[in-house]
Amino acid sequence: MFYITCAFGLGYLILYPGLGSFAGVLGWTSIKQLETEEQQAKDKYSSLYARYAELSIDEALGSNEEALKIGKHLYLTYCTGCHGSDAGGITGFPNLRDND
Ligand code: HEC
Repeated sequence: MFYITCAFGLGYLILYPGLGSFAGVLGWTSIKQLETEEQQAKDKYSSLYARYAELSIDEALGSNEEALKIGKHLYLTYCTGCHGSDAGGITGFPNLRDND
């Protein structure tokens, strides 16, 4: 098991950055990965949100029921853990419903 772990570690350090300034033979960087993932997200979601980009904020967010529904789902998925399900905040995480 020890030798397998050493072989894995050596292989990993040849493929990925980890030894001084050696960049690894795959050329992987966290910035490249981020850019790839951002592009994939743009390709996937830009058509969905394109029609909202043309609307004013008040029109899109204040009275457009579909936009409000999407926003609610996004909030419940990505923000509730810290800001609370009612956006009222939790100790250490700000209230999003006040005037700040
Ligand atoms: C991992 C925890 C975490 C998550 C998840 C999170 N936030 Fe925050 N948010 C914070 C913290 C902590 C602050 C306060 C940062 C500061 O004061 O520097 C903050 C600040 C804010 C503020 C500024 C509030 C103010 O009164 O200044 C807004 C707006 C906000 N978050 C919106 C969101 C939205 C929208 C989401 C979901 C897309 C989200 N946050 C997800 C932790 C989080």
